[in-house]
Amino acid sequence: MSTPAFPDLPAGFRFGAATAAYQIEGAHDEDGRGPSIWDAYSHTPGRTRGGATGDTACDHYHRYPEDVALLRGLGVDGYRFSIAWPRLLPQGTGPVNPKGLDFYDRLIDELLAAGIAPAATLYHWDLPQALEDRGGWRVRETAEAFAEYAAVAAERYGDRVERWITLNEPFCSAFVGYAEGRHAPGAREGRGALAAAHHLLVGHGLAVRELRAAGAREVGTTLNPDRLHAASDRPEDLAALRRAEVLHNDVWTEPLFAGRYPEHEAETWAGLADGPWRRPGDLELIGAPLDFVGINFYRPITVEAAPRREDDPERRTAMDIGVAEPNPYGTRLTTMGWPVVPSAFTELLRDLDARYPRLPPVWITENGSAEADSVTPDGRVHDAERIDYLAGHLAAVADAIVAGVDVRGYYVWSLLDNFEWARGYEQRFGLVHVDYETLTRTPKDSYHWYRGLITAHRARTEEPAR
Ligand code: FCB
Repeated sequence: MSTPAFPDLPAGFRFGAATAAYQIEGAHDEDGRGPSIWDAYSHTPGRTRGGATGDTACDHYHRYPEDVALLRGLGVDGYRFSIAWPRLLPQGTGPVNPKGLDFYDRLIDELLAAGIAPAATLYHWDLPQALEDRGGWRVRETAEAFAEYAAVAAERYGDRVERWITLNEPFCSAFVGYAEGRHAPGAREGRGALAAAHHLLVGHGLAVRELRAAGAREVGTTLNPDRLHAASDRPEDLAALRRAEVLHNDVWTEPLFAGRYPEHEAETWAGLADGPWRRPGDLELIGAPLDFVGINFYRPITVEAAPRREDDPERRTAMDIGVAEPNPYGTRLTTMGWPVVPSAFTELLRDLDARYPRLPPVWITENGSAEADSVTPDGRVHDAERIDYLAGHLAAVADAIVAGVDVRGYYVWSLLDNFEWARGYEQRFGLVHVDYETLTRTPKDSYHWYRGLITAHRARTEEPAR
């Protein structure tokens, strides 16, 4: 495989790398951190691949100076990390943990000293278990607790954080966590998942208010809208496509960017859409203007009608929407089993832009690929597939920009190999390889390629080199 050319991105375009707290920090019970739903879930036998947990992960909590040095070596403009809610408020609400606050102070200061702009995600899935015990995202109190936590974080770090992301992929929190049960808290409910979806949006709106009140610089949120296709023109496949679109996309984008709840809700989850969790004023709260929207993209999805599993009592409540995902792309698959189709990324961005006149500027907050990486005897990691994936997807972003979409920057997922949720440590997304026995970090070929791209971009667009 020859090394792909660097994609042509405009002057001022920013490059970064991303991680999330539970996936890298470890130190799960240190310095007063409370348990989160991911501690409980990963410690439940049978939930994660090989029984993997985030107890140690990449030990970033202790090794953050080394990781910031890696970021500096990479030459990135920005770093997207997440703050662990249970480190700041171990019970989710109430007493604040000073040692938790100190950790992110140290991290942020280290980043700033390295010339790297911090982007902080407030919620990357690690809900304090104490709140789950009181209903989790099914109840509105959790959205209120989220606002309390956002205020604590904004007050403490608002002077130094450049970009605030309220939620990461609320689709996964609500539907993978409360309907499919493949993520924490591992619930399989219909009603609960729809209530969770709404309360996540309300929590976002309340957090935005707190961030604004504290004078936060840029405020936004991160979604993972999907580029969905129907497997055929058969009416049942088109209906399946519509249902999937509601769930994956419209539940989030319609209230955030069009001030309304999605159409076609009734056919998606008969009888549950107008749950008592929706209150007057919520749409205004949720739809308050944002400075940017973060988009995470990995692969397109094709859907076809599948029998609803109405014989399954747990599913009967609503969330089995009768959709299967065939894989007709005929392209290479990553080790996640995800097809590599960069053009779908351009289509997704163009589509969002065309559909929502109120769409704020876009930051790509995650994009990357999991590959079968290993350190070879020459001490390197030759991940040509990842370089190819990144080059293709950055070119797809460049195409979207040429077509008029306002994309400002890109954070590659991920800086480090890390705990890939229920898939454990087998999936490696990092630009830097992590040996989980020794915790040794080894920059992969893609790390050097990305660094080269950033350097070339700066030279070409005549920005001063650092
Ligand atoms: C996204 C998550 C991120 C990571 C990637 C591969 O859904 O936001 O934490 O796991 O997938």
